[in-house]
Amino acid sequence: MKGLVYRGARKVAVEQVDDAAIKEPNDAVIRITTTNICGSDLHMYEGRTSVEEGTVLGHENMGIVEEVGSGVAFTKVGDRVSVPFNVACGTCRSCNQGWTSFCERTNPNEGMQGAAYGYANMGPYPGGQAEYLRVPFADFNLLQLPPGSEHENNFTMLSDIFPTGWHGTVLAGMRPGDAVAVYGCGPVGLLAAHSAVIQGAREVFSIDFHDDRLKLAESIGATPIDPRVGDPVAQVLDATSGVGADCGVEAVGWQAHDPSGAEHPELVLDNLVESVKVHGGIGVVGVYVPEDPDGPNDAAKQGRIPFKYGQYFTKGQRMGTGQAPVKRYNAELRDLIIAGRANPGFLVSHELGLDVAPEAYARFDKRENGWTKVLLHPGQS
Ligand SMILES: NC(=O)c1ccc[n+]([C@@H]2O[C@H](COP(=O)([O-])OP(=O)(O)OC[C@H]3O[C@@H](n4cnc5c(N)ncnc54)[C@H](O)[C@@H]3O)[C@@H](O)[C@H]2O)c1
Ligand SMILES: [Zn+2]
Ligand SMILES: [Zn+2]
Repeated sequence: MKGLVYRGARKVAVEQVDDAAIKEPNDAVIRITTTNICGSDLHMYEGRTSVEEGTVLGHENMGIVEEVGSGVAFTKVGDRVSVPFNVACGTCRSCNQGWTSFCERTNPNEGMQGAAYGYANMGPYPGGQAEYLRVPFADFNLLQLPPGSEHENNFTMLSDIFPTGWHGTVLAGMRPGDAVAVYGCGPVGLLAAHSAVIQGAREVFSIDFHDDRLKLAESIGATPIDPRVGDPVAQVLDATSGVGADCGVEAVGWQAHDPSGAEHPELVLDNLVESVKVHGGIGVVGVYVPEDPDGPNDAAKQGRIPFKYGQYFTKGQRMGTGQAPVKRYNAELRDLIIAGRANPGFLVSHELGLDVAPEAYARFDKRENGWTKVLLHPGQS
């Protein structure tokens, strides 16, 4: 089958790869109808991770069940399903507590809990930017979708970024009536803003410096804030009578930069500590890594990010972090889509075949104007 393979920094190629096949009785094989390029893929694409050459990328997958193993009881050939990016066993302590993003069985790497498809350090699971995908523990992991093709562009956000954006608001302790500051208007930040609006935020501030992304934030009812115009913290404080937002979401990650592109890994954490009120919460879903050999300074290379911890403590704030446990949210979010209450597909900018994925990576990586979220349909040429 064809798959999109990592070949070194800023090099990906569509190649013939091993067919996805049943290896364990609990596996299913999915024919991919839609698979998305994620901002998380760009960390690998830019050569900022230890992902191995030859890895098939792609953790945002949905499709039709093609084949099931002998131990699969409920999932049937022909079912339309969303595949959470977390590969989880369903029976370990973390899975039982709802933390499938920290599954204790599926990642064989020493000291690592939590696994994902096609991702650095997240276990031996090829990704779904390919024609087919093997899904372990299929009955536990797969989310059933209504048959047909309706809502494809909304449902495809259920594998990662809609639950991740929602998780950001949960980690932040957001409550109805809150003013919420969301740093980052990439796909994750836009869906964190959408999640906050759905949950009754009184105002959502969406901060980024890309005009197209700020416009999308405005289109879903958020107030766009552009750091090129002035200090984003001052803009949030001005808009909240000096009090600050009730809570905040970090949807940028360790490659946070200033408008010139220079990286400052502590920048958005500092901004959040200053933008959020005393005893407010901060949900960090942007990714931070234990080490970064290409980091901008010695501390950053060792994964040490000295943010304004003293002010954070003095303000009595709280912070929640980490990979999102998709299964905790995806059924409810699917039902919000079906009920017409959520429309996470609003940010889709491109729908392309797999063959042109390398160009799509390059343009999404440059955050070219209008390249907000790329959907790949492997069956389409
Ligand atoms: N926790 C999880 O489970 C999870 C899941 C998916 C993605 N992620 C992570 O979320 C982050 C965002 O993902 P994405 O797909 O939206 O990626 P993205 O790279 O497209 O979006 C990041 C956005 O942040 C903006 N930005 C950079 N510096 C900024 C600053 N100083 N202030 C405000 N905005 C700034 C960029 O302009 C960009 O629009 C990434 O780190 C990704 O790895 C985490
Ligand atoms: Zn993703
Ligand atoms: Zn588990």
